[in-house]
Amino acid sequence: MRQKLAAGNWKMNGTGTALAELEILTQAHGHSGAQILICPPATLLAPAAQITKTTAIALGGQDCHAAASGAHTGDISAEMLKDAGATAVILGHSERRADHGETSDMVCAKTSATWHAGLTAVVCLGETLDQREAGETLAVIGSQLAASLPDGASGSNTVIAYEPVWAIGTGKVPTLEQIAEVHDFLRAELSTRLGAETANAIRLLYGGSVKPGNAAEIFATSNVDGALVGGASLKASDFSPIIAALEAS
Ligand code: PGA
Repeated sequence: MRQKLAAGNWKMNGTGTALAELEILTQAHGHSGAQILICPPATLLAPAAQITKTTAIALGGQDCHAAASGAHTGDISAEMLKDAGATAVILGHSERRADHGETSDMVCAKTSATWHAGLTAVVCLGETLDQREAGETLAVIGSQLAASLPDGASGSNTVIAYEPVWAIGTGKVPTLEQIAEVHDFLRAELSTRLGAETANAIRLLYGGSVKPGNAAEIFATSNVDGALVGGASLKASDFSPIIAALEAS
């Protein structure tokens, strides 16, 4: 059985005062049945780790460099994220792909680095609206998956997040049929590459405008093992009912 996962991506939001939200979440869900992963800005990882340390809530980074250390001004390695308290790293988010020109080959190298540091990679994939309207969704997702994932993926080192670019931060959500089509496709592609047993152990998250009001129906969708949540993870009062919906699913 895959453990359900509610992941929150704070993006470039939050200074020290935002940790009050993590305190509330920790009190309510510190020993939750679902796994909870919060990915705050890297500047907040160390103080966040103090808040979550005696709980089951895990912390993650939002990106890392492919190298462990070196002359890369402004970058952060997976080892550094681990040292600050992270157990996972979001990689290949569409905002990184768009803002920083990250290719799937770069995501692949970062995924290897993440595994090397002993962290779980949350690898993001998603089509643009143009690609969806051109009927290219599965082709795009298939090629992103193939190129972003190094050999050696397993249920413990990898989570895949399907995040349609046009659904992120827009309030637009694919139909449940569209989500199921992509998640079933991802499971089948993973199975072809890794074998059914390994493929069945890898969690597949949906991300893009997940809110308290739509979470339950998304979690009831085929091959959806949880969510990667942006805006609605910033406030405990929004994220908490999403966690509750996941636990009830
Ligand atoms: P959103 O972002 O929930 O604000 O749409 C999701 C994400 O980018 O991970």
